[in-house]
Amino acid sequence: MAVPAVDAARAAALRAEIERHNHAYYVLDAPTIPDAEYDRLFRELQALEAAWPELRTPDSPTQRVGGRPLPAFSPVRHVVPMLSIRTETDTGPSGAEAFDARVHRLLALPEDAPPVSYAAELKFDGLAISLRYVDGLLVQAATRGDGETGEDVTQNIRTIRAVPLRLAGTAPTVLEVRGEVYMSRPDFERYNARQRSLGKPTLVNPRNGAAGSVRQLDPKLAAERPLSFFAYGLGETEGWQRPATHSAVLDALAAFGLPVCGFRTVARGARDLIAFHRDILARRDSLPFDIDGVVYKVDSLALQDELGFVSREPRWAVAHKYPAQEALTIVEAIDVQVGRTGAITPVARLKPVFVGGVTVTNATLHNEDEVRRKDVRVGDTVIVRRAGDVIPEVVAVVAEKRPLRDLFGDEPLHPPFALPETCPECGSTVARGEDEAVARCTGGLYCPAQRRQALWHFAARRAMDIEGLGDKIVEQLVDAGLVHTPADLYGLAVEALAGLDRMGEKSAENLVTAIARSKATMLNRFIFALGIRNVGEATARDLARHFGNLDALLAADAEALQQVPDVGPVVAASIVAFFAEAHNREVIAALRAAGVHWPEGEPASAAPQLLAGKTIVLTGTLPNLKRDEAKAMIEAAGGKVAGSVSKKTDCVVAGDEAGSKLERARELGVPVIDEAGLLKLLNNGAET
Ligand code: IVH
Repeated sequence: MAVPAVDAARAAALRAEIERHNHAYYVLDAPTIPDAEYDRLFRELQALEAAWPELRTPDSPTQRVGGRPLPAFSPVRHVVPMLSIRTETDTGPSGAEAFDARVHRLLALPEDAPPVSYAAELKFDGLAISLRYVDGLLVQAATRGDGETGEDVTQNIRTIRAVPLRLAGTAPTVLEVRGEVYMSRPDFERYNARQRSLGKPTLVNPRNGAAGSVRQLDPKLAAERPLSFFAYGLGETEGWQRPATHSAVLDALAAFGLPVCGFRTVARGARDLIAFHRDILARRDSLPFDIDGVVYKVDSLALQDELGFVSREPRWAVAHKYPAQEALTIVEAIDVQVGRTGAITPVARLKPVFVGGVTVTNATLHNEDEVRRKDVRVGDTVIVRRAGDVIPEVVAVVAEKRPLRDLFGDEPLHPPFALPETCPECGSTVARGEDEAVARCTGGLYCPAQRRQALWHFAARRAMDIEGLGDKIVEQLVDAGLVHTPADLYGLAVEALAGLDRMGEKSAENLVTAIARSKATMLNRFIFALGIRNVGEATARDLARHFGNLDALLAADAEALQQVPDVGPVVAASIVAFFAEAHNREVIAALRAAGVHWPEGEPASAAPQLLAGKTIVLTGTLPNLKRDEAKAMIEAAGGKVAGSVSKKTDCVVAGDEAGSKLERARELGVPVIDEAGLLKLLNNGAET
């Protein structure tokens, strides 16, 4: 039977819509629909294709993960070789100057020639890939190999949702796109955290993660590793008028729907290159992916041709590096740290080493199994990684360098690491739940380490916001026995505080005032401040909204708790266990008795959801509301706060010094309001 025309049309529409959402999400980083809606579209397409297999086109988003495991990869010959790039080892400004001077000399430019234009981009730390599109359809993806011949990894590359299966617009007959497959840092961290909690091996770094999954013979395993892609150049092209400059090539690739990194510029002369190198270094830690430097390319393709190559390296490009994010050092000791919820984390004390721009002396080893799996021992030479704002970690041991008991034997000098049986801070038993990766001190708030951290957490800006109650003061208060629970803070007198180290009369007075001021709070902040395991800021907000008042929350059982959005059995169990503890109830009662209060409300079902389904973007500084507060109010009214402006944005709330988001809103004709407008919207639901 022939496919009914309505079904064929519906399948085509679904394919286009799903790929449009993929593009918005994975390429533009601006999600357009909720995940649940995306899943619904995807399932609808799957069902249609199951009913009519003829509808299963090669560019269907359902076909990203298909194929069977391969026995081996087939070779692919690159019509245009994949070159490598000359590296400027000098990480200082002279690296850029040397390159610019070389270009001037090779092009025989006169002294007074105008500056040369360069395309300046990031040097992504992943794996080079060539994508081949024929008549707009992705037909092949290959690794670089030796530059002449690579491997066919099409099945694996198809699983990367940032890679379009079909190009947008009028596609050339043949377009080969060169670029980098990489794993973003958040994806890497999430993947490793999950592996760790399952007791499975972790990835050493994002680059190995990317390279390993691209070269994975089973595409299903490759699909489990979250990868991304950036295009940075061309291979073979046919039936296409190439633009005149590299920067215009990248613009064209972006217009075809390919992901092109936004951090790039056209630099004129060495001065601009140096500025780019410096600016990107300053942003390096906050980028969501690893880079190991920047790349400069002569922008004019005609000049590139004139400059040509030497031994596989173009003379028109150079990589200007940054200091490495991994380094070798020696483990001097392995200690354990006790966290707020008692979690025991092994920490390697290191011989100081400069890595990722700072001197590192400690690195996390995550948990007992992880240390055992990596078999990190005292005296070992290890690779330490520090990238982005994450805590430095030991990624691997250099086995050959392990110190031995004697020169000719093979017995290691130090035994394998074992977790202490009692807490180093309070002597309580250390216990590990059957399915848990993490061991915990059972001392609870009896343990000074947990008490200190519970207090830091309680006083934090996003919790009770007690200004001036810093780490050092909390430490002294706990050590001196002045404060056992958060409730004790509200009984502190100026005289007691003034006796502490580095605390004068005036600052003691200020702190007492700040503590008193924190009594007037919000229910969600209070719930968050309690430090219940698995209850972060967002969950605290959901709980406050759902129950409306604390007594309703205290009375809720696991079943009632799971009525709250995003609260599952694990979170519900943590909450029940927390409130079941008599000590915790006493602290809550003492806090209320001390005068801690918040506006009590009705359960959320009664609260009007004036902004249900609306997406709002906040930009600039609002006159009265803090950003967090505005966000919480919008969410309490059922709205969603997005990070960037798109056609789907319902309204932009702009404060002082609103920048590009405001401009974008104006371009797209999205309504713009101020703080007063937002409050009005929240009060009576007036439409903008
Ligand atoms: S261009 C003509 N641009 O660096 C030069 N390469 O040796 C061809 N890489 O493994 C490469 N970011 O995968 C170019 N923005 C960028 C890059 C980049 C990373 C990698 C590339 C290759 C190595 C070049």
